[in-house]
Amino acid sequence: MSPPFAHITGWGMSVPENILTNDDLAKMVETNDEWIVSRTGIRERRIAGADQTTASLAAEASLRALEVANVHPSDLDMIILSTSSPEYIFPATACLVQDQIGAVKAGAFDVLAACTGFVYAINLGSQAIKSGSASNVLIIGSETLSRVVNWKDRNTCILFGDGAGAFVMQASDEPGGVLSAVLRSDGSGGDLLSVPGGGSANPASMQTLYDGLHYIQMNGREVFRFATRVMADATQQTLESVNMDMDDIQLLIPHQANQRIIEAAARGLNYPMDKVMVNLDRYGNTSTASIPIATVEALEQGRLNPGDNTVMVAFGGGLTWGAALIQWSGPLSYERKVSPRRVRLFARSRSIFSRLRRRVEGFFWRNE
Ligand code: UT7
Repeated sequence: MSPPFAHITGWGMSVPENILTNDDLAKMVETNDEWIVSRTGIRERRIAGADQTTASLAAEASLRALEVANVHPSDLDMIILSTSSPEYIFPATACLVQDQIGAVKAGAFDVLAACTGFVYAINLGSQAIKSGSASNVLIIGSETLSRVVNWKDRNTCILFGDGAGAFVMQASDEPGGVLSAVLRSDGSGGDLLSVPGGGSANPASMQTLYDGLHYIQMNGREVFRFATRVMADATQQTLESVNMDMDDIQLLIPHQANQRIIEAAARGLNYPMDKVMVNLDRYGNTSTASIPIATVEALEQGRLNPGDNTVMVAFGGGLTWGAALIQWSGPLSYERKVSPRRVRLFARSRSIFSRLRRRVEGFFWRNE
């Protein structure tokens, strides 16, 4: 029997309601709308409210993706969540999402490949499906980078935004879905984009707080140079691995970091900008969430349709970069209708039940 294909059958996004414009930023640091728009293309970004976190945005995006796919959370085998702004060092944010959506039989883990993380998750999810070890996989990119940005550093605070996006991936014998992917890294450039504090190298202390080591540190020019070099290369490599070229691609969905980086990649590929998805003007750089958020909006705008081929390509801290080639599918037909209201109720009651069970088990264990 030939291995199954890994199709993307559901998608969803969730962004905070709070909008921070360039003019708002100009009141906080020495910058202005003209500089930010001309150097980055960004006009505004979303900032998480006090009650929103990486897990809560992820859970909301996931429930929407499950609704589109018509898949119940209890049918998920695996949750892969990519983030650079996790809820905690551990447990994994994926496990918190598992609880919040009631994915009772799913394994869950986080991936850390910075802004390239969602491309890594696409490849991991599709390999799990193609190997036969999973049939229904949820992949998520979610960030609340506003919590690790130094709001006094104009080099970084103008760039980032909060948000989440999710895909449901499912096994099917029908050809299509994820056709190829390339993943790359170069740790020698790790210091170009990092949050150096709070890990084993610089454990949290008064000194790390004083030195600002818990904030994002970035060498913008070097990252820019690296990005313009690798985006076109990764796209070409993933296409060449299945004997395809840019003429076969209906839409390019790049990581939404900077309009100039995206334009340089399109130029390097000799590919027209009107076939490149760009929405960074409204969300800024949402890191690993930028590709799924851009995909959801491309679908809403009718720019990506079943049967189309698309390349999703990203670069980021690590350094990491990569690309995935996907023949777009859409929901598989399912008999059972998944109601979002019922799913939310189910998730809440499962979570309460699990907590109660642990307390009861703890009580008897103590008294044995
Ligand atoms: O997902 C990956 C995340 N990281 C990235 O994508 C970053 C990639 N890099 C970039 O996007 C760009 O390097 C930036 C947008 C960060 C900066 O643009 P740039 O064209 O590379 O500017 P620059 O760093 O070369 O700075 C040019 C000037 C400097 O002034 P001087 O030294 O020429 O007097 C900066 O101090 O612009 C100044 N500057 C600003 N001015 C107004 C830097 N940030 C700002 C600002 N507002 N926000």
